[in-house]
Amino acid sequence: MKPALISGIQPTGKLHIGNYLGSLKNFVELQNSEKYRCYFFIADLHSLTEDFDPKEKPGQILTVALDYLSAGIDPKKSIVFVQSKIPAHSELAIILNNFSPTGELKRMTQFKDKSERQAENVNMGLFDYPVLMASDVFLYDAAVVPVGEDQVQHLELARTLARRFNNKFGKTFMEPKPFLTEAKRIMSLDNPEKKMSKSSPAGCLFLDDEPETIREKIKRAVTDSGHEVKCDPESKPAISNLIRIYAGFMNETTEIVEKKFKNKGYGDFKKDLAETIIRSLTPFQKKKKELIKKSAAVKKVLAAGNRKAGMVAGQKIEEVKEQLGLSID
Ligand code: AMP
Ligand code: TRP
Repeated sequence: MKPALISGIQPTGKLHIGNYLGSLKNFVELQNSEKYRCYFFIADLHSLTEDFDPKEKPGQILTVALDYLSAGIDPKKSIVFVQSKIPAHSELAIILNNFSPTGELKRMTQFKDKSERQAENVNMGLFDYPVLMASDVFLYDAAVVPVGEDQVQHLELARTLARRFNNKFGKTFMEPKPFLTEAKRIMSLDNPEKKMSKSSPAGCLFLDDEPETIREKIKRAVTDSGHEVKCDPESKPAISNLIRIYAGFMNETTEIVEKKFKNKGYGDFKKDLAETIIRSLTPFQKKKKELIKKSAAVKKVLAAGNRKAGMVAGQKIEEVKEQLGLSID
């Protein structure tokens, strides 16, 4: 049997090109490689860890589904589902909590960052986020997890957790490996020291942005002193980020991009970059506009995915309970 691969995206707002180049584009390529049994889900339980409006949640969930399908995730090849529809995710997280030392969770960078950002709402869900994430992965025996760099620490914790659990109770979980792209960490357009993030929309280029907006945002994106199109993240973080974006969309190395713009300045490069992004996003945007009109069909895709994922996860959670002595009949 092919190895399983899983990843999820939180329904918290519009996706940006960091999400796309760091993960979504990779999901599609990995799916099409036909080397894996792919699961892609909407991490709606994870999204409750930040402030939200229940009225907006259904739309946000559907939007991630639309983003998946518009980017090229094919329900004939991959299982697409909604996390909260599969009770085993919550169940396994409650079980794994008992094998997750709080000291390890306290060290998580994302927990520390978000605790600072939402100081008035440092909740248990935020603290427990990596344990739920490990559950997401373990339930499907996933070996490979395509994510951006910010999620690597969570997967390391999942590996430790799997090892600890297996040593104690017998081989139960796979140790998942992160799968990163070259564009694993796209930085904000207005500050190359900060990662592009939905929490700071001013520095984001969204997948739904109109061509004019894309041109404007790229024109305004900060650059470094000098004029050479050269990738040097230490001394030229801003232009290096733009080069990485260009390379990501073109499937080229940064060296090739440098060569292409060898005797050209930032102005020419930015113009070409904007057009490249527009061209690359056009099929996605077109497909999404079509799919928005077919939300009933999209919901059907999710319902079918939920059924399939539920069977796999349901079996695994029973296996776990058995290992722990929780099944009497
Ligand atoms: P999220 O929207 O936080 O659920 O993130 C969805 C995916 O996008 C995850 O795999 C993240 O690691 C990835 N991601 C988020 N921001 C960036 C970024 N600035 N650069 C690269 N990948 C990112
Ligand atoms: N934590 C991921 C993010 O913020 C989303 C996610 C939840 C995930 N569960 C997962 C990704 C399991 C991969 C595997 O981007």
